[in-house]
Amino acid sequence: MQRIVIAGAGGKIASALIEHYRRQSRIALLLVSSKELSVHTGVAHIEIANISPLDFDGYKAALKAFKPNVIINTIGYTDVDGCETDRALAQLLNVRFPEMLARFARTFDIHLVHYSTDYVFDGSAGPYDETQIPNPINYYGKSKLAGENAIRSSGCSATIIRTNVVYGFGGASKSDFVEWVIRLASANIPIRTAMDQFSNPTYSGDIALATAQFVERRRSGLYHIGGADYCSRYDFALAITRAFDLRPDLVEPVTTHELEQKAPRPLRAGLISLLAEAELGIRFSGINEGLAAYRREMESNHR
Ligand SMILES: NC(=O)c1ccc[n+]([C@@H]2O[C@H](COP(=O)([O-])OP(=O)(O)OC[C@H]3O[C@@H](n4cnc5c(N)ncnc54)[C@H](OP(=O)(O)O)[C@@H]3O)[C@@H](O)[C@H]2O)c1
Repeated sequence: MQRIVIAGAGGKIASALIEHYRRQSRIALLLVSSKELSVHTGVAHIEIANISPLDFDGYKAALKAFKPNVIINTIGYTDVDGCETDRALAQLLNVRFPEMLARFARTFDIHLVHYSTDYVFDGSAGPYDETQIPNPINYYGKSKLAGENAIRSSGCSATIIRTNVVYGFGGASKSDFVEWVIRLASANIPIRTAMDQFSNPTYSGDIALATAQFVERRRSGLYHIGGADYCSRYDFALAITRAFDLRPDLVEPVTTHELEQKAPRPLRAGLISLLAEAELGIRFSGINEGLAAYRREMESNHR
């Protein structure tokens, strides 16, 4: 039986992973989160531990007791502007925490899955493939690249998955771009979004599916996972209003300069996922397909 730990189980990607794994009978799951989780158990055997990612000793004790073969690390300080001002927290969650897990994984021969970001690139020539050289321009990107490097140099068996602009139903940490647009549009508030920031938004269900396949095949290495549509934040916001029957005229195109965001943003970011798609035989969703799936999940949860 596979014994899998999901670290940061209260987050966005974790929520899609839990949804995927809870239906698998041959999986034992340990969900570790600083938050109180309520998980509808399906077929999988599920344990929950309430531990903060700042409590490294608590984490290691829970891991030792559970004896996993796989750790999936979804912990990350993902607030890009927050990372610019609270660099100590960014270091702890994006560098020291994965470093601690990697050392643990190396010692006990555990496979580690870790998520990183297209923000390791400078955004001058995206979308990027796995062979291109990172050059982060903000602290979030720098700390995430340092986290990747800490894992690589630990010598543990690891799959590092870079992704971008993740959306999908669930996860209590913070709202994603889709939830933000829905909230504003539902209250008839204008939505100012960057027309010059490009990415390929990624449906969290696709990330969960790809992760599970990498785990099953014990595939190590670096993989990019991004959705099928490369578009601006403005275009994505328009698609969200259409997918949720909200008012597209509320979406206002602005430049990144006008938004006065604290951290500089890579403008032509995004990821080329051909390697992952070819190896796994998966085609990642475009925005209309992903948003339709998001809406179905949202509606079935509110029923
Ligand atoms: N979301 C995206 O658009 C995106 C894009 C590219 C890469 N990624 C990467 O994918 C991974 C997962 O992303 P996600 O969107 O699922 O993350 P998330 O929901 O923002 O956060 C994941 C978990 O990290 C912990 N965490 C976050 N902020 C914290 C804070 N201030 N203090 C303490 N713990 C904190 C929480 O763990 P607990 O459950 O223990 O509270 C949270 O559930 C991250 O490594 C991220 O860098 C995400």
